[in-house]
Amino acid sequence: GSGSFVPAVVIGTGYGAAVSALRLGEAGIPTLMLEMGQLWNKPADDGNVFCGMLKPDRRSSWFKSRTEAPLGSFLWLDVINRDIDPYAGVLDKVHFDQMSVYVGRGVGGGSLVNGGMAVVPKRSYFEEVLPRVDAAEMYDRYFPRANSMLKVNHIDKGWFEETEWYKFARVSREQAGKAGLGTTFVPNVYDFDYMRREANGESPKSALATEVIYGNNHGKQSLDKTYLAAALGTGKVTIETLHQVKAIHQQPDGSYVLSVDQIDAAGQTVAHKEIACRHLFLGAGSLGSTELLVRARDTGALPDLNAEVGAGWGPNGNIMTGRANHVWNTTGAHQSSIPALGIDDWDNPAAPVFAEIAPMPAGLETWVSLYLAITKNPERGTFVYDKATDRAALRWTRDQNTPAVDAAKSLFDRINKANTTMYRYDLFGPQLKNFSDDFCYHPLGGCVLGKATDGYGRVAGYRNLYVTDGALIPGSIGVNPFVTITALAERNVERIIAEDVKAA
Ligand code: FDA
Repeated sequence: GSGSFVPAVVIGTGYGAAVSALRLGEAGIPTLMLEMGQLWNKPADDGNVFCGMLKPDRRSSWFKSRTEAPLGSFLWLDVINRDIDPYAGVLDKVHFDQMSVYVGRGVGGGSLVNGGMAVVPKRSYFEEVLPRVDAAEMYDRYFPRANSMLKVNHIDKGWFEETEWYKFARVSREQAGKAGLGTTFVPNVYDFDYMRREANGESPKSALATEVIYGNNHGKQSLDKTYLAAALGTGKVTIETLHQVKAIHQQPDGSYVLSVDQIDAAGQTVAHKEIACRHLFLGAGSLGSTELLVRARDTGALPDLNAEVGAGWGPNGNIMTGRANHVWNTTGAHQSSIPALGIDDWDNPAAPVFAEIAPMPAGLETWVSLYLAITKNPERGTFVYDKATDRAALRWTRDQNTPAVDAAKSLFDRINKANTTMYRYDLFGPQLKNFSDDFCYHPLGGCVLGKATDGYGRVAGYRNLYVTDGALIPGSIGVNPFVTITALAERNVERIIAEDVKAA
């Protein structure tokens, strides 16, 4: 393969990666970003960059022959998923033995496929999770910086109360209220002014056309429109797409060499590259960054990585559930795909839960109220290197999710009781199941701050090697995580550029 040298490499283009690349570029450091997914900016034959949720095609999924939507069924019918051609699509579901993890693939990482919910964690819980991070500094400086850079905005409350598109959320709020539970508005990076223009018929519909997990064609301020655009604007940052980093080793002079496979969108390998750099930033996400380091440690490429690499993983207590409403209590055929309200019972000491009221935008009345609950589950998983497959396997058993299911159940049992309603058992696949305990959207940990790294993400045992992403957060943050990942990356990279990069 071809060899080349760049001062700094950032692996991935998600939140941690994008923050790091922007700040490196601003500091004048030539920086190369390597992203295994595609750049999503060219319309396909149908005129759209992304496909919709109800008629998914190959753009939806990362090398699958059938789509793998989180709700696999409805009345036990497999009506949601479709056969497709394997392709470098935007949403991946990574399967481990007893847990599957949804992640975004492409320039912007998870920002391309996520619900855009931009939530600053409760300060007391942040302090509990990351006790050695100066919380005052985070809440005074880095969370506000992240919110402003990410273009976080708030729904107009008057419009929320009157629009048909959020009836599903108002219904759930009223039912929560009957059980004595309060709700809170959730900020978002989807442009709510754009959404109102969609509702008024003034702009092409995206959130109001069921788009979200396979990408939004309009309205969403994903990272390619915020941090990554600014990074490219420095003139110092370049992005190579369809470049997957396979392995990392170190040369005697301390520089790092990456083995990279370049593929085409059909999955054929078109080149092998060796890329050397002085400073290496891992922003491949909790799964990606952890796998690269576990592999490097256990193949002997970076033997001084410590035993904490791979440890401390959790799904942020994610549990999905659905409730069946009475026939007279309709949630609406028209639902925005962008959530706007959460049930906040986090201060309940017995079972803390923050449950986002999720839409089920099916284009017809379903009488379903859907939720993604974030619970406080103390269980943690560990990634171990599997030599036979050259992959990091996740040691996590289904029963480790029991505390999360129990917490979600205690909250939704209260709501069902107060409203004389029941769970739906038909949404999560062919078996009877009212709680999804086998997949998550919020993988966190694997290279925990202060354990696998120092207090700023410098990997223990190696100079000029950094983790920047969700792998730093020890398995739980109590709210949707990307604002925290962004703010922490801002804090860490500021210190690293000042002390390590500029000084070098
Ligand atoms: P992230 O996963 O964003 O980026 C990693 C990037 O690295 C990816 O682009 C990947 O392709 C690339 N990569 C991985 N390995 C590589 C390799 N070896 N070589 C090259 N590139 C590699 N959060 C939230 O706060 N609010 C929300 O509403 C939601 N909703 C939501 C919905 C869905 C469907 C999903 C899947 C996720 C969410 N999330 C969310 C979670 C959120 O998207 C997630 O926490 C962040 O994207 C994680 O950011 P990171 O920087 O850690 O990595």
